[in-house]
Amino acid sequence: MGSTHSNNLTRHDGHVDRADRQRLLGQKGVTIWMTGLSGSGKSTIACLLEKMLIERGRLVYRLDGDNLRLGLNKNLGFSAEDRTENIRRVGEVAKLFTDAGLIVIASFISPYRRDRDAVRAAMGGGDFIEVFVNVSLAEAEKRDPKGLYKKARAGQITAFTGVDDPYEPPEKPEIVLDTEHASPDQSASRVFDFLDRGGYLRS
Ligand SMILES: Nc1ncnc2c1ncn2[C@@H]1O[C@H](COP(=O)(O)OP(=O)(O)OP(=O)(O)O)[C@@H](O)[C@H]1O
Ligand SMILES: [Mg+2]
Repeated sequence: MGSTHSNNLTRHDGHVDRADRQRLLGQKGVTIWMTGLSGSGKSTIACLLEKMLIERGRLVYRLDGDNLRLGLNKNLGFSAEDRTENIRRVGEVAKLFTDAGLIVIASFISPYRRDRDAVRAAMGGGDFIEVFVNVSLAEAEKRDPKGLYKKARAGQITAFTGVDDPYEPPEKPEIVLDTEHASPDQSASRVFDFLDRGGYLRS
């Protein structure tokens, strides 16, 4: 990497800024960052929230773990180093889309606290809303929507979060969703209300 880095870069600003885009869209750019075990319900809740926002006439874009690994991050695996790079790239994309004025819903296991904190730090205050999608390992494993826990227990997948790779829960998330007791609709509504009350749904 070092040899391709340039020290001769200067940011070139245009004549239009984020405030102009937000006025155009009638909303504020923000990233909803959903973190939690595989099977906790991140994608399920993200899809419901996305629909609620679109129905309210808000422009929203979903960034989802598997989808990004099929494209932008297809050269990355699940080693600690690759997981960190996965989240760094996605964080940069979320930051750009947030600057574009979009409501971004990012749903990634994002198991390492320092990686999530790095995205938060890069995005700045108010732009990054961490949502801990909380579920017990036992319940996530019972759901096993993709059959991945089964494979991990059988040793067909290694370094699987919660089984043989750690999950570090957020220490101060803006929102905690308890998906063992709240329905997916209730969880999505809670995030929607947070955005509404926080003034994100108007410019
Ligand atoms: N209360 C609940 N909230 C959310 N999901 C629930 C709930 N009860 C059952 N489920 C089911 O749990 C599964 C959650 O799967 P989902 O793909 O959303 O998880 P995920 O967190 O995105 O996992 P991954 O990290 O592997 O992408 C779905 O099949 C969903 O229907
Ligand atoms: Mg998912």
